[in-house]
Amino acid sequence: MITVIDGPAGSGKSSTARAVADKLDIEYLDSGALYRTVTLLYLQAGRDKTVFFQLLDQAKISFRYCDRQFHVAVDDAAVTDRIRTPEVAEHVSEVAALPRVRTFVNHLMREAVKDGIYIAEGRDLGTAVFPDADLKFFMSADIEERARRRYNERKPDNPALSLEEVRRNIQQRDLKDANREADPLKRAEDAIEINTTNLSFEQQVDQICLYISDLI
Ligand code: C5P
Repeated sequence: MITVIDGPAGSGKSSTARAVADKLDIEYLDSGALYRTVTLLYLQAGRDKTVFFQLLDQAKISFRYCDRQFHVAVDDAAVTDRIRTPEVAEHVSEVAALPRVRTFVNHLMREAVKDGIYIAEGRDLGTAVFPDADLKFFMSADIEERARRRYNERKPDNPALSLEEVRRNIQQRDLKDANREADPLKRAEDAIEINTTNLSFEQQVDQICLYISDLI
């Protein structure tokens, strides 16, 4: 069984999906973390696409959710701490727009969810990756609120970060994610829309838990 949450950066998908997974004791899948992991390979390749595709063909990417964190590894070496840097954030949307990258990540995800009960979050899960998902949500919130959330989340690990830099990065990524040719950020027609601008975190989590509890 799979529930998907799509939405733009900072809409609250990740924290909500994690809290739902913990509350209902189900598995959590963070598709953005996989695109970020692949972006590390792109940076490692010096942003040379030929070298990057070779690395992608050879790399073994593994992931698991435990202790409230989505862990990712490349060839069994943990990279979880390296995927949230400004450098990765700057390049991830250009990497995620490559059809070959999307095929790679989609395959990883579809294999992973074959067994178990999952909640997964991303941009195109309800439209392209899991069009037959049992439940689909689309989360949104206004840009100021999203920038503020991301800023508060990242600031402790990155003291030099400014709110303006975060807002700019989010706006640029939204634009690229929504306008790319391959599987753009889009609300599935049958997705339930949740605007989180004025909802408390608990309200968001409870709403989704109620829907899922009805099915399991
Ligand atoms: O969710 P997060 O902000 O970590 O995602 C990072 C980037 O990964 C997004 O800006 C987007 O470019 C890409 N992404 C995507 N499709 C998904 C999830 C993320 O293209 N399903």
